[in-house]
Amino acid sequence: MENSAFPGAGVTNAPPDSGLLWILLWMAGWVAAACVPALVARLLGLNARFYFGASLLLSPIGGLIFITLIRTPASEAPALRTFAKHWLKPLVLLALLIPFGYLALQWSLMLSGQPHAMGWNVGQWTHRYLGDTAIRTLLVTLAISPVRDITGWAPIALVRRRIGLAAFFYAALHLLAYFWLDREWSIAGLIEDVTIRTYIMLGMAALTFMIPLAVTSNNGAIKRLGRKMWDRLHWLVYPLAILAVAHNLLMVKAIEGAPTVHATILALLLAWRVVWWAVAKLKPAEAVT
Ligand code: HEM
Repeated sequence: MENSAFPGAGVTNAPPDSGLLWILLWMAGWVAAACVPALVARLLGLNARFYFGASLLLSPIGGLIFITLIRTPASEAPALRTFAKHWLKPLVLLALLIPFGYLALQWSLMLSGQPHAMGWNVGQWTHRYLGDTAIRTLLVTLAISPVRDITGWAPIALVRRRIGLAAFFYAALHLLAYFWLDREWSIAGLIEDVTIRTYIMLGMAALTFMIPLAVTSNNGAIKRLGRKMWDRLHWLVYPLAILAVAHNLLMVKAIEGAPTVHATILALLLAWRVVWWAVAKLKPAEAVT
């Protein structure tokens, strides 16, 4: 959850001069990258169509990495920055409140005796829904930097802090719903769960790591801690995301479904950071001032 109005100002890649040009370049790279394995497959007498299809699916990622590597750093576009200040923040806030609104709607339908989507086990539905919302919001927080790096749209970082806070909000509600609807406020029951079930222990650890991040997600904390210390503290987001995904993965018996999708997305986001870091190290010094 790095922050500041524009983290890495002056470091960030600017939007390309012509967005269309970049999109065309990306698409050309995409198709070209898919043709190579197909041609090799054909030469080797393999199913060229299969290799073309598979590469077509995989190469957009390669195309994005390619564009990111060839783009040169430049300053941010002021118009986009202004737009983000005025529209992006309230828009994102609204989007972040939608899952809560949906939950409130389901509960009000249930309480007024009308049909609702929660099934017969309302408690389980509620805390599972909140857990899913928390982990997905957390993954969106981690996706902000890659999206900024790929698109060059620096103002997107303006909303990272509020998305991270929303992840904490939903995770805290998830615990509260579990404690209330499943454990009926029994502290002994909760402690027993934490000690007996590994996945609950991991969930608890993830939530504990989220607390210092949520508490320091404000301008005052950045000033008090200093930028360097604050950045170091917010590195906690990586272990906590791994703990949250492990919490989710350990509660299922098979490698399938939403937990696997969450784990795959996290692996890709972490891999992106490693690649980005390695590329920054390899770039000439003036490019990463
Ligand atoms: C004190 C902390 C936590 C406790 C006690 C806890 C407990 C639980 C429990 C009991 C379940 C349901 C398992 C089942 O019904 O089989 C669950 C599911 C889940 N939790 Fe947590 N959790 C905690 C923290 C977190 C955090 C921090 C996250 C994510 C940021 C998270 C994400 C999830 C997800 C994604 C699910 C699966 C929901 C589903 O089955 O659709 N949990 N948690």
